[in-house]
Amino acid sequence: MATFIALVSALLVSSVYSAKALSSNYYDHTCPQAESMVSRTVKKAMLSDKTVPAALLRMHFHDCFIRVTPFCLAFLLGCDASVLLNSTSKNQAEKDGPPNISLHAFYVIDIAKEEIEASCPGVVSCADILAFAARDAVSLSGGPTWDVPKGRLDGRISKANDTLQLPFPTFNISQLQQSFAQRGLSLDDLVALSEFAASLQSVCPMHNKVKNAGANMDTTPVAFDNGYFELLLQGKSLFSSDQALLTNPKTKALVSKYACSQEEFEKAFVKAMIRMSSITGGEEIRRHCRVVR
Ligand SMILES: *[C@@H]1O[C@H](CO)[C@@H](O)[C@H](O)[C@H]1NC(C)=O
Ligand SMILES: *[C@@H]1O[C@H](CO)[C@@H](O)[C@H](O)[C@H]1NC(C)=O
Ligand SMILES: *[C@@H]1O[C@H](CO)[C@@H](O)[C@H](O)[C@H]1NC(C)=O
Ligand SMILES: *[C@@H]1O[C@H](CO)[C@@H](O)[C@H](O)[C@H]1NC(C)=O
Repeated sequence: MATFIALVSALLVSSVYSAKALSSNYYDHTCPQAESMVSRTVKKAMLSDKTVPAALLRMHFHDCFIRVTPFCLAFLLGCDASVLLNSTSKNQAEKDGPPNISLHAFYVIDIAKEEIEASCPGVVSCADILAFAARDAVSLSGGPTWDVPKGRLDGRISKANDTLQLPFPTFNISQLQQSFAQRGLSLDDLVALSEFAASLQSVCPMHNKVKNAGANMDTTPVAFDNGYFELLLQGKSLFSSDQALLTNPKTKALVSKYACSQEEFEKAFVKAMIRMSSITGGEEIRRHCRVVR
């Protein structure tokens, strides 16, 4: 039985990660202007709303972390733009999920998609647009930039209750590690992404050291520096899942490393972002990011 489960999960995991090979030059012939269109849109939106970068990054995390359950055949979806879908009369979508996940700035993706559809209709997925926008959000906030692997497809399923799969701010180190491992992500990825991972599950203030920490994560502009790790070492973290990073020798060593070196932090962050955003599923290219075709 154990062997059988191991075999099945190995097959499933390999099918998740090989479901759709992503590539750097995916749109070179079909829509080379897609990325610059997204960058322009994000930049413009940031000028009138400083919370846009944090919102886009958070949206991308949500998208990639939801519906990745390797033991269940039906749910092999990661970054598939399910977070962008509107609720319908028959279905309550992720964006309206429990508890209040307080996502915003969907309009930025709508504008970028509309512009891209006008010049290359039916070619660029909403999931890729969101991955580009998250990268731009980081680099336009003074963080590193990187080449986003492309070729994701959009999913057709978005369930409100799936937001319960996100890591909770109250998770201890083993729960965090498990949540990341289920998505093929390592302890290194966990620490590098922790500034944002903990804020994924929107919060009940009473579970947090700092009242309304979750709300603040949404309204303060993202600063891409390693200051978070310094604060963490000083015991000034917002979430108990952040403090959990100090309870394991390996993650604690990583926290110290990133606190000492902005360069090491950026390198690890980029690597983790690429790994996280390469969890793919999906089956179509939507025309409008809020509705399935
Ligand atoms: C999606 O929902 C938003 C907010 O409820 C609404 O303003 C918008 O018109 C909807 N869009 C579509 C295409 O259904
Ligand atoms: C959840 O969101 C709805 C509308 O989006 C709002 O009316 C309600 O007050 C929110 N609840 C909490 C607990 O924040
Ligand atoms: C979500 O889960 C709760 C509790 O398990 C359940 O009562 C509710 O009906 C579910 N909602 C949806 C939309 O599936
Ligand atoms: C983390 O929490 C889980 C569930 O409550 C518990 O089983 C586990 O022992 C805890 N692990 C640590 C390292 O505290």
